[in-house]
Amino acid sequence: MLKDKKIIVAISGGIAAYKAADLVRAFVKKGAFVKVIMTENATKFITPLTLQTLSSNPVFIDMFSLIKESEISHISLAQYADIFVVAPATANVIGKIASGIADDLLTTTIMATKSPVLICPAMNTNMYTNAIVQENIAKLALRGYYFVDPQCGELACKATGSGRLAESSDIIEEVECILTEKDLVGERVLVTAGPTREPLDPVRYISNYSSGKMGYALATAARRRGADVLLISGPTSLKPPRGVKLVPVESAVEMQTAVMNCLADSTIIIKAAAVADYRPAILSKTKIKKRRGPLVISLERNPDIIFEAGKKKKKNQVLVGFAMESEDLIENAQKKLKDKRMDFIVANDLTQEGAGFQSDTNVVKIIDKQGSIKDLPKMGKIEVANAIFDCVKQIRAKSNE
Ligand code: PMT
Repeated sequence: MLKDKKIIVAISGGIAAYKAADLVRAFVKKGAFVKVIMTENATKFITPLTLQTLSSNPVFIDMFSLIKESEISHISLAQYADIFVVAPATANVIGKIASGIADDLLTTTIMATKSPVLICPAMNTNMYTNAIVQENIAKLALRGYYFVDPQCGELACKATGSGRLAESSDIIEEVECILTEKDLVGERVLVTAGPTREPLDPVRYISNYSSGKMGYALATAARRRGADVLLISGPTSLKPPRGVKLVPVESAVEMQTAVMNCLADSTIIIKAAAVADYRPAILSKTKIKKRRGPLVISLERNPDIIFEAGKKKKKNQVLVGFAMESEDLIENAQKKLKDKRMDFIVANDLTQEGAGFQSDTNVVKIIDKQGSIKDLPKMGKIEVANAIFDCVKQIRAKSNE
C-alpha cells in the first residue's frame, strides 16, 4: 500500500532522532519514496549522511537552499508529499506548529502543506504531561493533525513514564491507515481469529495450527478502511492491531459467548477463526498420569458458532465464513455456505503452497450464495482481507439498488 507513496520524514532535535533511521529504512523497504527534513538540532543527534544514505535522497535542513533555480524548497517539499511524518516531534516543534510559528524549514514546510501530517511526540515524561504540551496536542488534533502517542517505559533521561517514541511499526500502520480510503465508515465489523484451545487437564489442550494472521489482517484492513472493529481472538503470539478492540478468548465456548454478546450490534461478521469442533468431554482437575496401554479421550461437540450466528442474522448484516479444506474444496465450502446461512464463504485449500495456516499469504476462492466463484491468486493476507471487504461492499451496493 505504501509502494510509490511520497513520504516526508521530518526530524526534530531529541534523542529519539536516531530512531528515525529505522523508520526511514522501513518506509523505503515498503517501496515508498522518502525525503527527509531535519532541524539544525536534529543534526546534533544523527547525521544527515545516515538519512541521505537510507533515503537515497538529499536531506533538507537549510531554509534558504534552492532545489532548482526557481523552486524554493519549503514550497516544493510541501507539495511533494502524500504525507508528512514528524518523528520525533519535540515539545518545541509541537508548540511551534500549534502556534503558527514557521521559523525553519521543518515548521515552514508543515505550515505550507495541504497533505496530512502525522506527529509522533517523543520527549521527557514531565515535558509530555505538561499541560501546555497537552493543550498544543489537543489543539492540533482538533485541527486535523494526526498523532501516534508515545510509549510508556524507561526514557533516555532515565525517567520512567510516557514519552518514548512509538515503535516504527505503529507509526507505519498509522500512515497506512491515514492514506487508505475510508469506505467502511459506519460499519461495525466483528472478526474472529486464531485457534481455540480445548483443555484436557491443567497442562494439556487440543488445538490447531492457526496463527491468527488471517483474522488480524481482516481486523487491520477494516480499521484502515474506517470501520469500528471488534476482534475476538483465540490465543496467538501476534501484536494486537492498532485501533481495534480486542477480546481474547481461549475455548470455543468462550468464543461463542463473546460472539453472541456482540452479534446484534455488528453489521459485518467474519469468522476466520479455526474453531475446534470437539472438546474433551471431561476436564481433569489434575494432570493425567501416564499409565500402561493406550489412553482414550472421549470428545464432545463444541457449539457451531457461525451456524448460530446465521440463525440470528438480521437483514442489514453480512455474514462471512471461511472453509479450510484438504479435499473437495468447492463442494465442501458450498455446503458450509448453505448450511450456515453465510452471504459468502472464503475457501482455502490446506494442500496449496502459500495458503492457509501461518503463512503471510493465502490462496482463496470466494464463493457466494448465487454460486459465483472468484478465484484469487496467491496474495498477502492484507490483500485477501481487502478483497473480502470489496465483496462485502458489492453486497451492500446491490442491496441499495
Ligand atoms: O490463522 P492463520 O494461521 O492465518 O490461518 C488462517 C485460517 C486457515 C485459520 C483461515 O484462513 C481459515 O480458513 N479459517 C477457518 C478454518 C476452519 O475452521 O474452517 P472450518 O471449515 O472448520 O469452519 C467453517 C467456518 O465455521 C469457519 O468460518 C469457522 O470459523 C466456523 N466455525 C467452525 C466450527 C465451529 N465450531 N464454529 C464455527 O463458527
